[in-house]
This record gives sequence, structure tokens and C-alpha cells, in this order.
Amino acid sequence: MEKKIIARRPHCLVLPHPAQGHINPMLQFSKLLEHQGVRITLVTTRSYYNNLQKVPPSISIETISDGFDKGGVSEAGSLTVYMQSFLQVGPQTLGELLEKLGQSGDTVDCVIYDSFLPWALDVSKRFGIVGAAYFTQNMTVSNIYYHVHLGKLQPPLTEDEISLPAMPKLQHKDMPSFFFTYGRNQFMFDLVVAQFSNIDKADWILCNIFHELEKEVVDWVTKIWPRFRSIGPNIPSVFLDKSGQDDQDYEFTQFKGEDCMEWLNTKPKGSVVYVSFGTMFALGETQMEEVASCLRECSSYFLWVVKASEDNRLPKDFEKKTEKGLVVTWCSQLNVLAHEAIGCFVTHCGWNSTLETLCLGVPIIAMPFYSDQLTNAKLLTDVWKMGIRAPIDDDKIVQRGALRDCIREVMESEKGKEIKSNATQWKTLAVKATTQGGSSHRNILEFANSLCHS
Ligand code: UDX
Repeated sequence: MEKKIIARRPHCLVLPHPAQGHINPMLQFSKLLEHQGVRITLVTTRSYYNNLQKVPPSISIETISDGFDKGGVSEAGSLTVYMQSFLQVGPQTLGELLEKLGQSGDTVDCVIYDSFLPWALDVSKRFGIVGAAYFTQNMTVSNIYYHVHLGKLQPPLTEDEISLPAMPKLQHKDMPSFFFTYGRNQFMFDLVVAQFSNIDKADWILCNIFHELEKEVVDWVTKIWPRFRSIGPNIPSVFLDKSGQDDQDYEFTQFKGEDCMEWLNTKPKGSVVYVSFGTMFALGETQMEEVASCLRECSSYFLWVVKASEDNRLPKDFEKKTEKGLVVTWCSQLNVLAHEAIGCFVTHCGWNSTLETLCLGVPIIAMPFYSDQLTNAKLLTDVWKMGIRAPIDDDKIVQRGALRDCIREVMESEKGKEIKSNATQWKTLAVKATTQGGSSHRNILEFANSLCHS
């Protein structure tokens, strides 16, 4: 009988920085590659492994060490100590993993590494394996850091307005916060700049954006890195073109959600303000007080995510479930943003939240706190024009009156209607980019095909 020759599927190791905001998009990207015949092994740290219960069964999981195998960042005591240790221990243990897989005949064809972990590229090159950098933040932010790497931009910023090729003009309030915390936290600044330390050796540079969203900067960087490809937004396809109905089962989170859908179902279309400040930043007491008072006084319904770590800072008399408002410790944000009752999103502008609100056409009120969030806020409000920025003082506190006015403007004014129409257009473009023939879809096919034929 004729023997059927089954082509070997290419095998990729996918190595995200071990935090939810990095693992989620890289996992979604992995699933897209799987659909194109690529086999995926997700690599995480031993300390983070237990958080990964929701990975699809078709994806294998391997672990490496960050030097704090029991407790990760909390065992290290600070992100800086943790990342320094990961930098020391990670490369050796990644090398050991590649050796182990090679010896067992499970050869790795490509390492897709989080750009926060550039040492992974050096390891893959040592093994003669294709290395693909994956940027979880957008290219406007990344291009700022790239210019620091080039020696063309340095803290402290002396110009009032920062002008870089193919980018909108940026004021200090739009620049990543690390420019202003440089003296106190040089490590984080060095870390984001180090993303480019060996980038010229990367075989591919992938970024969780879509071309139409950052057209100018993408065209500019593609001239420098011909193998730059936009492959996003990497969110479950059920929230984009609805092609993968099983997708949301694998939305990964280490937090326990609370059901708010029943409460949302009782609210009219576009009537609820959704408030959430992401996974990492915990609001202080005064910040909580101002947001709480605003939500109590404003005329809209609200759904507010107050993380367990912030709960004791919520004003004591603040009721967590009323006709007007609901406070939860966690929710499925994508399902919430997709609910027709949601009228706007008060957000810290983390990159995942930004992409999610954009894909679901929800207008925003930007309250950025640190890191890339300030630049994302600039893009959301002034470039993509799908929201407004709440005035925040130097201590990152928003005055309740100012936040209330912003909510009224987005939810009730003529400008609000314009903003909603812009948000809807971005949603259409995001869906188009990720469906058959769209820019990101084409780029993903090209990348997957290159692995299948290498
Ligand atoms: C961090 C940094 O703060 C940010 O600057 C960077 O861009 C990414 O990493 P994070 O605080 O995790 O961001 O926010 P974000 O990137 O927006 O990711 C939060 C994720 O948690 C989103 O995918 C969101 O859907 C999810 N989420 C949040 C929930 O599912 N439920 C919630 O209740 C809150």
C-alpha cells in the first residue's frame, strides 16, 4: 500500500513576558498560527505556570526559570529585582529547554519571543533557530524607545514638543512615563530601550497592531526592518469576525470574574459607563475617592472594576450594587465592552484595553497613569479621535467635577456622537484587517507560510 507522507508541522516556541497583558495577545496569536498548521509550545516561567489553566489543549506548555520559581515577582519583592534575575537565569534555562527538545527529536523551528526579553533572540541564534520578536506595545511607543536606542532622544526632555519621523508631535504629557522616572527607576527605562539591542538580528519583527491604525510609522519602520509585520489586533476572533466561536473559552486570566451580565442586561443601550484601570496599577485612596464621588454624582449608570487589592480604599459608605452602579473585582472585559448597554469606557489606556475598546467600537475617556499609557491616550484622543482625555494632576488624581464633565461630553453631547462614529469606523477597520485579505491576515499567512516552507 502506498505510504501517505505527512508533512512535518513547523514547531514554534512562544515566549511571552510572564504577565497577563503579554500572555493573552501572544496566546491569541499562537492560535492563529495553529490554524495555519503551525505547532505551538508556550513557554512560561515555573512561578507563573499555575496561572495557565486555560490554555487550549493543542498547545503544549514548557517552563523555564526566572530565578524565583516559587513566587515570581512577589518572591523577588520588586519588578526590577525580578527582571534582573530573569535576565541572569532565563537564557541558560531556555537553552537547556531547546537542547532537551532537540534531543527528544522535537526540533524547534522558530522562537517567537516577547520583545521585553531580547536575550531569547541571542539564545535562538546560538541554536541556529529563526527568531521572531513580538511587540506587545504599539509602534508609536516602540519608535520612541527606538530613538533612545539610536541616541537621538534622551531624558531629561529639553524640548517642549518631541518631533520624530512619521509620528504625531508629542508633548511631555504624551511621552512614556519612564522618561520622567528615569532617575528613580532607570531599570525600566533600560529594559524598554533594550528591546532594540539586537533587533537587527531578528528574522521577523511582529507587532500587535494593524497597518491602518499606525500607517505612517509602520511604513517608516518597514523601511528600516523589511521583515516588520503588523499582525494584530490579537484578541479572540469571536470579538472580531466571529470565526472562532470557541475562542473566548481560552481568554486567559489569573483573576476570578464576577457575573455582571445580568445587571447589564437590565440597562438601556449605550447608558452605562464602564470603568477599569487594568491589572497592574492600583488606585490610591484619594484617586478612589474622586472616582467614586464622580460616579455617585454623574447621571449615567456605571460598572466599575475595583481590584481586590484596592477594595480597602473604596469609601466605606460606597454601595457595591445598586440600580445605578455595580462594583466588581473582575469581569470579562471583552464581553462587557461587547455589551450594547456600554456607552463609554473610562480607561487607563493599557495597550490591550486600547485594542479591545477599538475593536468593539466603544468611545473612551482616557485616564493614563504610567508607561505607554500616556502615549496610547494621545493616540486614542488626538489621532484616532475616539475619546477625550480627563485632566489629571501631577499626583495622577482626577477632580470629580472634571471626570463628570468628560462623562457627560462623551455620553450626551454632539461631540460624543462624532466620537462614537469614529470609534465605529475603527471597529470596522480592525475587523477588516483581521479577516481574509486584510492586512494583518495576509501578514500572518506570510509568516506561517515562511515557517512551513523553511
Ligand atoms: C500593562 C501596562 O499597564 C500597560 O501600560 C501595557 O500597555 C500593557 O501591560 P495592564 O494593566 O495589564 O497593562 O492593562 P491592559 O494592557 O489594558 O490589559 C488588561 C487586560 O485585562 C485586558 O485584556 C482586559 O480585557 C483584561 N481585564 C481587565 C479583564 O478581562 N477584566 C477586568 O476586570 C480588567
